[in-house]
This record gives sequence, C-alpha cells and structure tokens, in this order.
Amino acid sequence: MTLAGLDRSERRVVMFGGKGGVGKTTSSAATALHYALSGRRTLIMTSDYTPSLSDIFEAQIGPRERAVPGVDNLFAIEIAPDEVMRRWKEKFGPEVYEAASALVDLPYDEIVDYVAMAPGIQEEFMLDYILERVREGRYDLVVWDTAPAGDTLRLLDLPRRFIEHLRTAPRVYVELRDAFSLSRAPLTELIKSWTELAEDVTRFFTDPSNVGFILVTIPEALGVYQTRRVRRSLAEHGIDVSHLVVNHVVLDAECDFLRQRRDMQEPYIRMLEAEYGATIGLTQIPLLPYEIKGVDRLREVERRLFGDG
Ligand SMILES: Nc1ncnc2c1ncn2[C@@H]1O[C@H](COP(=O)(O)OP(=O)(O)OP(=O)(O)O)[C@@H](O)[C@H]1O
Ligand SMILES: [Mg+2]
Repeated sequence: MTLAGLDRSERRVVMFGGKGGVGKTTSSAATALHYALSGRRTLIMTSDYTPSLSDIFEAQIGPRERAVPGVDNLFAIEIAPDEVMRRWKEKFGPEVYEAASALVDLPYDEIVDYVAMAPGIQEEFMLDYILERVREGRYDLVVWDTAPAGDTLRLLDLPRRFIEHLRTAPRVYVELRDAFSLSRAPLTELIKSWTELAEDVTRFFTDPSNVGFILVTIPEALGVYQTRRVRRSLAEHGIDVSHLVVNHVVLDAECDFLRQRRDMQEPYIRMLEAEYGATIGLTQIPLLPYEIKGVDRLREVERRLFGDG
C-alpha cells in the first residue's frame, strides 16, 4: 500500500508528524515533490528550528515563500518558532496592547511578550498562516512538515489552554483580574474573538476532507509506542491518521550487521501491520545507504511513497 490514495483526495493540506528524527522532513519533501511534478502548485513549509528544507533541496529557502529552483510548481518556506513569534507580535501586538493598556499600566513589550507566551500561540499562528494560504487559493496543496509529535498536539486544545493561561498566570493577572469580571472589557472581547478564530482553525484542521495527517515512524519499540500514543491523542481530538509511513526499513540484508537490524525490525513491522494495516495502511521506505539530499534522491523516496516506478 502506498500514499497514492492521497492523489485522489481533494485535501488541501497534508501534515506530517512523528517523533524526532524519523524522517518527517524527508517524507514531506518527497510528497511535496510528487505533487509539484504532477502539476499541482504546492507549498512545503516547515516550522523546525533547523533549516532542514534548505539542506534537502540544496537551496537557500528561508522565512519567505520562494520557488524551489529546478522544480516547477514547488514553493517552500521555513518558519522557525522565533520567526513565528515575531510575526505574531507584528500582527497582534498593537491590538493586544490597545486592549490591555486600557486596563493596566504596563509597558508595551511587557504586555505583548506576556500574551505571546501563551501556550499554543505559535502553533495557532502556524495553523492560521496555513489556513490563510489555503483560502487565498494560490496553492493547490500545502504540505506541512510539523515539529516533533508532542508539539503538534498542543495546538488541538488551544482555545481552552489559551484562556487558562490568561486567567491564571500571576504577573499581569493581578491587575487584570477585576477587568475580567466586567463583561464588556476590551480584553474580554479580544479573547472572545481569538477564541472564535482558534475554533475556526480547529474546525478546518479536524475535518478529514480538508487535512490528511500522515504519521511517520521507524520499526523499533520507541517508534511503535509513540505511534500508538500519538494516534490515540489525535483521535481524542477528532483527527484521523490517514497513512502511516514506516521509514528506515532494512530490505536487502547482505551482511551480518544488516541481518541483525532486519531481525530487530521485523517483529515491530509485524506489530505495526497488525495494528494499522487494515485501517490506515502502511507505506515503507527502505533505509538507503546515502543521505537524502537533492531532487534526484528525493525522487527515489517519492517513488517508494507513491509507487509509480
Ligand atoms: N530512508 C532513509 N534512508 C537513509 N537516510 C534517511 C532515510 N530517511 C531519512 N534519512 C536521513 O535521516 C536524517 C533525518 O531525517 P529527517 O530530517 O527527514 O527526519 P525528521 O523526522 O524531519 O527529523 P526532525 O525531527 O529532527 O525534524 C536525515 O539526514 C535524512 O537524510
Ligand atoms: Mg524535520
């Protein structure tokens, strides 16, 4: 079973998640390449600290959307969390300050920095950013290489955690406490409109006709446990995993070292197949002898993922 089923869906966003280092960026890049090659205008974005897309595409990508050299229809952007934070402040800072300064006498930075620390703000901003790209219609598809698993999940209960943060954190709260009890306080209004925004975003991302979630894992105990855990949490938040990619699979074991690794992997592959094979389908990527850099190498992963060669 391959990811080819994705080709037939009308989804506008494909997200890749999984624990650190398992091949999320590699799989995302190969998938984005696949769609670009098939003529769909595709944006790949990563929210990693490390500029991994630049490495993989062997081109300077950076925090502005830009065309990937040598591949028609493919665009990329790397937005590290500090850049996300900077943009969040740029977009919402004045609004936050205006609402809060009517109530408390604190410097601009203190208020804005405080609110910007709210849990999930960065993920929320990313989701909002993606949704904006989808709604403005410049791309047929957005492929999102997410941060390692746990972080992605934080966004799912954002509205509740966000409000909790504003209510319970000590510093600004002491002065805001009374203001919160006034129903028409500007900050309360602001929080209400953000909560609606967050709910709009959550609605979009939990609708499987909009978003496909692909979990990447490796055939080892940690990979199996993490997959179970992440899939359960996603299900609790109303998100279905549409595919499972099992990476680093040893195929041709021609020496003792590789035979041992393959023997180690086999029971885990069987476990993953037994657990998910019938419902979500598994796609394997073999462990390759070289690093996956550049379009030619990515094409090899793409062929494995989509089975067209
Ligand atoms: N099947 C494979 N065969 C050989 N090398 C691979 C394979 N898959 C990934 N790699 C290599 O493993 C490293 C990690 O892969 P990748 O960056 O895709 O993981 P990641 O899940 O995005 O990691 P992070 O959580 O740090 O973002 C890269 O150097 C990549 O080239
Ligand atoms: Mg990565």
